[in-house]
Amino acid sequence: MKMLGYFRSKVQSDKLMATFDDILIKPGFTNFNPSEIDISTNLGKYHFNLPIISAAMDTVTEEEMAIKMALFGGLGVLHRNCTYHKQLEMCRKVKLARSFVIEEVATINVNAKVIEAKYMMETYGISGLMVVREDNKVCGIFTKRDIPYNEEEIREGFVRDYMTKNVISIKPGASRDEALRILYKHRIEKLPIIENGYLKGLITKKDLKPEFPNASIDEEGRLLCALAISPKFPESLETRKMLKEIDKYVDIFFIDVADFYKKDDIIGTKKLMEFLDSDFVLGNIGTYEAAEYLITKCDFNEEKFIGLKVGMGSGSICTTSIQTGVGAPTLFATAQVADAIMDYNKKLSLIADGGFKNPGDLPKAITAGADLIMSGHFFAGCTESPGYMDTIQGRKVKVYRGMGSKEAREKGFVSDRYIEGSKTLAEGVSAYVPYVGDLSGVLQSLQEGLKNGMIYAGAKTIQEMKKAEVGIITPFGQQETKTHDLLGKY
Ligand code: XMP
Repeated sequence: MKMLGYFRSKVQSDKLMATFDDILIKPGFTNFNPSEIDISTNLGKYHFNLPIISAAMDTVTEEEMAIKMALFGGLGVLHRNCTYHKQLEMCRKVKLARSFVIEEVATINVNAKVIEAKYMMETYGISGLMVVREDNKVCGIFTKRDIPYNEEEIREGFVRDYMTKNVISIKPGASRDEALRILYKHRIEKLPIIENGYLKGLITKKDLKPEFPNASIDEEGRLLCALAISPKFPESLETRKMLKEIDKYVDIFFIDVADFYKKDDIIGTKKLMEFLDSDFVLGNIGTYEAAEYLITKCDFNEEKFIGLKVGMGSGSICTTSIQTGVGAPTLFATAQVADAIMDYNKKLSLIADGGFKNPGDLPKAITAGADLIMSGHFFAGCTESPGYMDTIQGRKVKVYRGMGSKEAREKGFVSDRYIEGSKTLAEGVSAYVPYVGDLSGVLQSLQEGLKNGMIYAGAKTIQEMKKAEVGIITPFGQQETKTHDLLGKY
């Protein structure tokens, strides 16, 4: 092991494993305007306007949460505590939730009557139809504006006589900007995608509008989709086939185990990386040595290995450290792995996972070397998390459970997240968290905590924030940083 490196020397001295409450970031000189702050970050080739990820847990991230997280600029990692069919369904929903390309386009035969076209548009609530010949090749476009005024013409007329024959189209794979340019140039609202005369999709002006300008999207404008995955390479051919199907909708797989620094998990993951096309984040790990080993000794596919996820036993529902005596608090793990990344492969991104209690913990994680943070605790009480709202003593609550809890393990899909074979030792709990309303409000506070922390520290970007200095505070200092010496609520 190398001498304590840059990030470790910030939060570590000798054998101390500091956690969020042990440190404070030193205030710095701010030579910029608050509006100039930029909290965007990268994970491999993916760009995020919000460096926040919701955890792959069955009481946190299913499609509703994942869609919202991506729309607001972050990412939601879909959990895997369900069948592959359900995983596929969730991934499809996220990937296809928002696209500027409509794939199932309504068409009408060129020899149909105008009245049929009018009926179709009214029934489906759409404003236009693509007109095709018998051989299915496009020959026109018929919109509401083409419907004649005269009742008789509507009843007796044919689409072919009223449609626009000169169809302006675009080739598959065109960018959003290119589509916008053509739509504007011709002052049209619909742009069919046509290849060799056949219809491949439709782009409409309405769908190109950036309603969520910060959304995390792929090149085709679809939301980024991430899914948790076991590091075991599936034995059954059927499962492999399913995984291949899922792979079509996923951008990033997150290896989902409590401790990834294990020979068998590494071997299985290498096979998965060969078999699947998507990118991979590996984890969790907690030490410099683990990161050094994974980066330098394992020969993972360089293109697909885009990040490391760190932290062991810090989660609010975790009991791993209590049950086993082993752990790597998230702040400590972040600094450890950040140094290894700096020493061996600066292209890798670091995700600090679990243990976040307050918005102020976000800037602390970034200062210790994280590029993004992951939390279950912040999001389990949101409207968008799975599960029902309950009321306990007049308070609205939702269930939040560890994936190592007895309740989550009973479903049977995540037993390999922990030490396999240990059937009775739960490594997590199931509890209630307060209902906190919509995700947008929660993200707003987290974002403000992060931004304001960066302003106080004098850092304009995430990379600059990594240069901020920290100090370890004493137990008395910790008391003082909380509210104190008040008479209480009255
Ligand atoms: P927070 O603090 O956001 O932590 O609740 C979420 C992270 O905790 C991990 N996780 C677990 N760890 N036992 C554990 O030791 C569990 O049952 C468990 N469930 C989740 C996971 O990394 C998650 O992102």
